[in-house]
Parts: sequence; C-alpha cells; structure tokens
Amino acid sequence: MPALRLSASTQDLTHAAGLLTDGGLVAFPTETVYGLGADARQDRAVARIFAAKGRPEFNPLIVHCAELDQVKALVHWSEAAQSLADAFWPGPLTLVLPLRPEAGISRLVTAGLDSLAVRMPAAPVAQHLLRIFGGPVAAPSANRSGQISPTRAAHVMADLGDRIEAVVDGGPCAVGLESTILGLTGTPPTLLRPGGVTAEALCDALNTRIALRRETDGINAPGQTRSHYAPRAGVRLNAVEFEPGEARLGFGAVDCDLNLSPAEDLTEAAANLFEFLHRLDATGAPVIAISPIPHLGLGVAINDRLSRAAAER
Ligand code: TXA
Ligand code: MG
Repeated sequence: MPALRLSASTQDLTHAAGLLTDGGLVAFPTETVYGLGADARQDRAVARIFAAKGRPEFNPLIVHCAELDQVKALVHWSEAAQSLADAFWPGPLTLVLPLRPEAGISRLVTAGLDSLAVRMPAAPVAQHLLRIFGGPVAAPSANRSGQISPTRAAHVMADLGDRIEAVVDGGPCAVGLESTILGLTGTPPTLLRPGGVTAEALCDALNTRIALRRETDGINAPGQTRSHYAPRAGVRLNAVEFEPGEARLGFGAVDCDLNLSPAEDLTEAAANLFEFLHRLDATGAPVIAISPIPHLGLGVAINDRLSRAAAER
C-alpha cells in the first residue's frame, strides 16, 4: 500500500499522531528536511525506521520534542544546553546530552550509547504534530540511507512511499539542510555535524570555543560514512568551467542549468540544494558539476554535504 498523503490540517495531523501511537512510520516536514518519524519509546516502530531506510543499526537517531519539559525528562540538562536552547530553539540545532536511562527511550534510538540527540524543530507543522502526539518522536531524514535528503513531500514519496504509513505534506523545507549537531557530553562542546546554525553563532551563544569533530573520531554524525547525500550521477565539485554533457549546478553569476543562488545568498542556496540535486539527477546526466561555494557561514554546511555527495562510494 502506498503511503497516505496527509495535509497539515488539524484533522490530518491528528490522524498522523494516531498512526505514530499505533507504531506506524509517518514522514513530516521540519524546517531542515523531512523526517521519518516513529514513537521513540516503541522498539518495533523504531526498528522499522532502520529497515525502511536501510540504515545501519549502529547509527543513532535524533529525538524530536515540542516542549522543553519533555526534553528535560529524556536527558541530563545543563547550563550550556539552556543557553543554546534560549538562543536557537525551536530551530535547526540538535544537542547530544547524557541520556536518562529511565526515560523509556528505545535502545535502538541511541544505538546503545549513553547519550541522546535531541532537537526542537521550528516548523509549525512539526510542532503541531508533536504537540498532538504528546511524546518523543525519533526521526532521521526521510530518505533511504546514503541518498539525497528530502526537502519536499514528493522526494519522500519517491524514495520511501511503499515502506511507510503516511507523509504529511507541509511544502518545501525553509532551511533545506539538516540541523547542526553539537555534542555536549564532554568539554569543550564538539561540533559533530555542521548545519543550519553556524559554528560562529554557537561560539557566540556559548562564549567558549568549540571543538570540530575529526574524520578519525569514529561514530558520530552522518559524516562518519564519507559517502552520503549521494545522487545517482557522479558529482564534480568546484567546477569553474562546465564540460559538455554535464548537468550544471551554478552559484552566482554563471551560465548553468540550475542556479543555487544567482545573488550569491547562502541561505537561498541551502534551501535549494537538495531539491536541485534531485532535479538534475532526474535528467539522467552522468555527472553533476557544481560551482564553488564560499566556505563561510551556511557555506560550511553546504560544502560538507557536497563533499560527501562527491565522495567515493
Ligand atoms: O535536521 C535534522 O537533524 C533532521 C530532521 C529530520 O530533524 N534529521 C536528521 O537525522 O538529519 P539523521 O538521522 O539523518 O542524522 C542524525 C545524525 C545521525 O547520523 C547520528 O550519527 C547523529 O545524528 N546522532 C544521533 N544520536 C547521536 C548521539 N547520541 N551521539 C552522536 N551522534 C548522534
Ligand atoms: Mg540523513
């Protein structure tokens, strides 16, 4: 049975919450990307996320909540966490904190770790769904493992439509890149994945330096698998000139097939990135060639995703 397509109406979101309660998988829009949600307390439901995505079970999931009190019941909260929540929640920031084992989160969510990744999404549709459901929702990006992330309901339908109960269609995602993940289980805080909130903004809010995760540090964020976010086509980065036959993804004043941002606006480029990769991949071109993206602000997260899309598979 193909997934049910639900709207963002209260009636449809109530239905979606009921599906989650029954152990179902429901994809829903956040401001970053579409998430594939399941009740984080139900082992069977969480196991189905890994099966539907083809995701290795050692890769833990992020739990989404609408209320701070809910979050505090799941993890050991700290002063640093409070400063960051004050500055960035709800929004595209995930915090990794010590898990409260008594909180009832499925061990599959944390892949057996004693920490938990938590986030409070800003998108009104996500908040509304989480409020109606009333519990913690585990949600990775709603794509098959290793593929381009979904920023439209249609991306989810194409990738997972035959494996999940429903997709809530809330239109395109405003940020378009996954959340920034910050580890708060050690000192100093560690940036585990660059994303919608920049490292500079985190340092400002915390008033401390933060460490960058090194590639050799082992399990952590989607980055640990070097190849990720990969289209079917090959990917050529920092293309200053385009070759015949390539699908051309531009940035700034260049002649190309699709332009992430003619005005060189990194926020606009982030919002367009995955949709444009999906579109150019669908043309069947053997290679997608991409203009250089400035490595500052949101450009750091964009370049992180692009380097993984281009990595050897
Ligand atoms: O923007 C987002 O974060 C989206 C939306 C749906 O919220 N979600 C998302 O989930 O990107 P996912 O599964 O694609 O990436 C989450 C990453 C995982 O790859 C995992 O490595 C990391 O978060 N993670 C989860 N729990 C962790 C933990 N306890 N310690 C370190 N990293 C963790
Ligand atoms: Mg993902």
